Amino acid sequence: MKTARPVRGMNDILPDKTGTWSFIESTFCNVAENYGYEELRIPIVEYSDIFERSIGIETDIIEKEMYTFPDRGDDTLCLRPEGTAGCVRAAFQNGLITKGMLKRLWYMGPMFRYERPQMGRQRQFHQAGLEVFGIETPDVDLELLLFCNRIWKELNITSLVKLKINTIGDVGSRTNYVRSLVSYLEKYIEDLDNDSRKRLKKNPLRILDSKDQKTQEILSSAPDFKQFVDKESREHFEKLCELLEFSNIEYEVNSTLVRGLDYYNRTVFEWVTQHLGAQGTICGGGRYDGLVYQIFGKHSPAVGCAFGLDRLVLLIDEIQTDKLLTRQPDLYIVAVGEAAEKFSVSCAEKVRNKIQSWQVLQNVGGGSIRTQMKRANKSGAKYAIIIGEDEVEKECVTLKFLTEDLEQELLSKEYFLSRLEELSKTD
Ligand code: HAM
Repeated sequence: MKTARPVRGMNDILPDKTGTWSFIESTFCNVAENYGYEELRIPIVEYSDIFERSIGIETDIIEKEMYTFPDRGDDTLCLRPEGTAGCVRAAFQNGLITKGMLKRLWYMGPMFRYERPQMGRQRQFHQAGLEVFGIETPDVDLELLLFCNRIWKELNITSLVKLKINTIGDVGSRTNYVRSLVSYLEKYIEDLDNDSRKRLKKNPLRILDSKDQKTQEILSSAPDFKQFVDKESREHFEKLCELLEFSNIEYEVNSTLVRGLDYYNRTVFEWVTQHLGAQGTICGGGRYDGLVYQIFGKHSPAVGCAFGLDRLVLLIDEIQTDKLLTRQPDLYIVAVGEAAEKFSVSCAEKVRNKIQSWQVLQNVGGGSIRTQMKRANKSGAKYAIIIGEDEVEKECVTLKFLTEDLEQELLSKEYFLSRLEELSKTD
């Protein structure tokens, strides 16, 4: 039965992975707070035209990958393929973008692209994104890259990622370059791969991304983008490189890096890792100074980037040797008999009140002491509190150490909480 499976490329995230997800998400939220970014929550469904007009009608995302559908009112809607266009729409329409004012925003959530699924590439994936409006100078580009760098530090993956950066100039430089690239490639049209041949008319810049060896050979003698970049953009880029060096951020200038969305100008960048096979880009972004004007007719320079959270989870799980991110319970409460069960419920609540950092599992569904102890050991908890008829009668509890070879302790009902608190401080 088809409906008993998830949709291809849209995966369940199971409890053994949610620890890693929470770790990455909370790291991102903390760093965003730390850098003074404000959270924006935008709808998952938008009118399709906002993406068509911003990402570009001839890009892969719009041509082949959007989940577009008519709603019952015959509007054409889509599941968002990325966050930037919706963020621009929401920020502009709600008055967050005003002339000359700086605005730093962040968002997080699922995105949808109808791509061929493989490791690190899903049809539902998740991004955490940053967008900064109002400032044209390269110090904002630097701030974003410093932000990324801090995320790598906090996630302990600095040595696994590399920054690739480029400038694609203003619209004029791109038009001139495209003209020259097309006239060069037309001479080799028969030798280009199929996709590149199609792109030659519709989106020639994307040919630079071709993985085909023959096409890459042809490209090695193609006109160099650098030669076409306008003077202001070149100076902007030189300043950014100088700032990166001053901030000790290593980078590699890659003049074939153009990115797959049409809205970019000047700075474009990608953080890549070699540890995820073909899907090694874990964060991408750049400037899009013309987009707000293009959609809303008001000038506001902007720059942003988005982290691919699914790829970060894969990367961290790949390098992580201990299982620290999978939460283990601290205490399991075993209770045998009706009176003991009642008593144990109040004990569990008292521990949860007093030691909020602990995970406390209460036995449910009854069972003999043997069965319950088996469950306690299987849960991975460090300690068990055992309450049987004896304990109820003596008004005490038995503390058992499940992961250490230590004598069990009989604790009075007045004292057991402070003893557990003591143990929680040594954890
Ligand atoms: P993007 O390069 O299309 O840029 O996506 C950003 C990141 O999302 C990628 O580097 C990758 O890690 C992740 N990603 C993209 N597609 C998939 C997929 N199918 N499966 C798993 N992960 C994926 C943008 O989306 C721009 N909006 C970034 C931006 C923000 N530029 C300026 N501001």
